[in-house]
Amino acid sequence: MAEEPDENRQRRNGLYREVSPELAENMRQGWADTERRDLAPAAQSAYTARRRAELSARFPGELLVVPSGLPKVRANDTSYPFRPSSDYAYLTGDQSEGGVLVLEPEERGGHRAVLYLRPRSDRENGEFWLDYHGELWDGRRNSLTENERLLALACRDVRTLAERLGAVGGPVRLLRGHDPEVDTALDGRATEEGDEDFRTALAELRLVKDSFEIAELRFACEATARGFEDVVRILAGGEPTSERLVEGTFFTRARVEGNDVGYASICAAGPHATTLHWVRNDGEARPGELLLLDAGVETRRLYTADITRTLPVDGRFTPVQRRVYEAVYAAQEAGIAAVKAGAAYRDFHDAAQWVLAEHLAAWGLFGERSAEEAYRLGLQRRWTLSGTGHMLGLDVHDCAKARTDTYVDGTLEAGMVLTVEPGLYFQPDDVTVPEELRGIGVRIEDDLLVTEDGNENLSAALPRRADEVEAWMARLRG
Ligand code: GLY
Ligand code: MN
Ligand code: MN
Repeated sequence: MAEEPDENRQRRNGLYREVSPELAENMRQGWADTERRDLAPAAQSAYTARRRAELSARFPGELLVVPSGLPKVRANDTSYPFRPSSDYAYLTGDQSEGGVLVLEPEERGGHRAVLYLRPRSDRENGEFWLDYHGELWDGRRNSLTENERLLALACRDVRTLAERLGAVGGPVRLLRGHDPEVDTALDGRATEEGDEDFRTALAELRLVKDSFEIAELRFACEATARGFEDVVRILAGGEPTSERLVEGTFFTRARVEGNDVGYASICAAGPHATTLHWVRNDGEARPGELLLLDAGVETRRLYTADITRTLPVDGRFTPVQRRVYEAVYAAQEAGIAAVKAGAAYRDFHDAAQWVLAEHLAAWGLFGERSAEEAYRLGLQRRWTLSGTGHMLGLDVHDCAKARTDTYVDGTLEAGMVLTVEPGLYFQPDDVTVPEELRGIGVRIEDDLLVTEDGNENLSAALPRRADEVEAWMARLRG
């Protein structure tokens, strides 16, 4: 009988601390063989193999280590829901806690990929029920053989990893900061500089999406549209409602379909819409106000949409709300038109910002200054606040570690997916704008796939034009 580890004993209710030999013997027996022998490789496995091959080609002769990471402790023995590091998911298709992908350089060139994972819990030594993270507590895991079949990847027991890492010489690149044990094991071998380059290479590998990823993002957008439709339905009747209910309604749709959200939903009504990251969601949404909903479903394979619609709570824009909305819509149209393969990444941002500057100038917000001069000085930014978009994929702000040269100062390529999300935000206490504008915030955000001759709007199912938004709301509200 294995000794029960101390920390388990401390964690668990003292009543069950003592284990008699009879109970230990009893728990060892009577379990059926549940090994699944009929598993076929998941569709994703052909893609992950290709992604690993590309990574391998960039780092010949080096040992490459990509951990999944460990759950973040919330308090004592409870953790936040686990999500693997995006690079690990990208290269393996796996989502296990504590997994580690190792690409070992081979003599004849290339790398051999091995995935180190926790195997199934041992019944013989009681680990499955005495270990607080045994399968009896946390649920059945795939066996290593099952995972080999599903992922089309050699799998080994993670408890053999440290020894193996010690046995492979040569330079090492590590995706640092996800698994302290792996970081420690490679201390002194991997350099911080080398690891930064590795992180950058991974981000740049992910800039152009393969067809599996595009299908996931398309699905994420479709699922997100269903969540937005549910939100419109609860706005029916035009009575006051709450940001909380909006948040919960969107989340419920994501969860009942087996998905999650890719970031904290921004459910911002009235003046809250002028706060870019309004995730407190603790206000009311009243008739006559706008509701800015920025939310995205994350698929089971961890790809997220990132969509914003700004909706009149009672289904009709007021004239001043419509004026602001239409300026943002025009800016988004200009931005979207600038998204195509071969264009500079900055083009869509510049196009949208210019249109906003023109509108702000026409409304007299720059005083004597022309739109051109204000734009040159960036004065529109008092009300446009943020950049006009970003790459999208496994992370909502995807590929953020890519070099400036390849991302922000780079060129769009077919297969990239990005958001175009201009906005105007007039703070409630901004005395430089007419009173009627104060407290109005509008953003429209769509997810675009760059194609050879332009783009495809993956979130086009959700109406954007003001009159289409009103008609859509009226239809859903019956
Ligand atoms: N929801 C975060 C963003 O739009 O970038
Ligand atoms: Mn967003
Ligand atoms: Mn965004």
